[in-house]
Amino acid sequence: MKGPGLRVPRSRGEEVRRRLLAAAELRRDLQILKEGEFLVLPIVREASLPAEWGEAVFREFASVAPPAPTDYRERLEWTPEAKADLPRSFDIVGDIVLIRLPSSLESRKEEVGQALLSFVPAARIVGQDRGVHGPERRRQVERIAGTGGWHTRHRENGLEFEVDVERAYFSPRLAREHERVAAEVQRGERVYDLCCGVGPFSLMLARDGRASHITAVDSNPEAVSLLRATQARYAWGSRIEVVEAPVEQFLPHAGAVERVILNLPHEGIKYLPSVAPTIAPRGRLHYYEVTPRVEFERRAEGVVSALVTGDWTLVDRHVVHPYSPTSDLVAFVFERSER
Ligand SMILES: C[S@@+](CC[C@H](N)C(=O)[O-])C[C@H]1O[C@@H](n2cnc3c(N)ncnc32)[C@H](O)[C@@H]1O
Repeated sequence: MKGPGLRVPRSRGEEVRRRLLAAAELRRDLQILKEGEFLVLPIVREASLPAEWGEAVFREFASVAPPAPTDYRERLEWTPEAKADLPRSFDIVGDIVLIRLPSSLESRKEEVGQALLSFVPAARIVGQDRGVHGPERRRQVERIAGTGGWHTRHRENGLEFEVDVERAYFSPRLAREHERVAAEVQRGERVYDLCCGVGPFSLMLARDGRASHITAVDSNPEAVSLLRATQARYAWGSRIEVVEAPVEQFLPHAGAVERVILNLPHEGIKYLPSVAPTIAPRGRLHYYEVTPRVEFERRAEGVVSALVTGDWTLVDRHVVHPYSPTSDLVAFVFERSER
């Protein structure tokens, strides 16, 4: 836009800019112009500024771009009351954005989808996340913006996984946990990754290369085929033996190993009696469960009693992420004693 300015030699630009700022005479919504060895500072009005500050001129100035929003909700021109129900957080899986919206926003979900699509730089499609269901923990998603399907490649801890958010379980909220377990593995350990899904634990372990044998087991054929597709893209992928089977079929024939991961938070407990015999003395179990916050301290005792055989020591217990207003996904790590 056209407006008044103050033309000053570049060498005096900063000094005059400060003076104008202090006098509230600088227009901060317009860009400073460069003219050879001079700068033209946009000013509020043709004020009678001291002549030694610079030469009064009239110029075309470009606007300063408004700062990028730091929150997707800033992209929605809604009343504060309407915004009150908008969730603050959302998940990003590859180029897919997933958000859980309350029923009060059902009629405005497409607007939220568009806001997220423009806010998340890599977003291709936005899905309303309707939660995971059934024994295979498949996610129900409904497209609210963007195009294409639910298959993507997700980057995590320097790895790229094949993921289909609708056909096989995957949560980006477990990234630190995958890394944490992989870091614990000692050279030569044999590992079972039970209920492996698309294989994030196994893939991390295989990439690190210390485990001597990794067996990844899942009953969902689509999870298994996604894991196999990722496996095929890495030279070290062959370090994982992928088994498509229910754990109840796999465990009775399984030999002992030094580490077992069992991430089936709502039902895993029922498999613990048959998991326990597969853990060698001094071997460890990483067991995941959704635990009411009030039971965090005492829950380990209940898990040990479900292991039935062997003596167990709780060596670690931590919250992986909040699950609901009153519960968390909790990781319990037990070690089997020598006897
Ligand atoms: C919560 S997901 C965990 C996936 C993976 N461990 C991860 O961290 O991303 C649970 C997985 O257990 C599998 N599952 C459920 N019941 C099973 C069973 N009886 N035997 C084998 N896998 C099972 C599901 O198919 C699903 O992939």
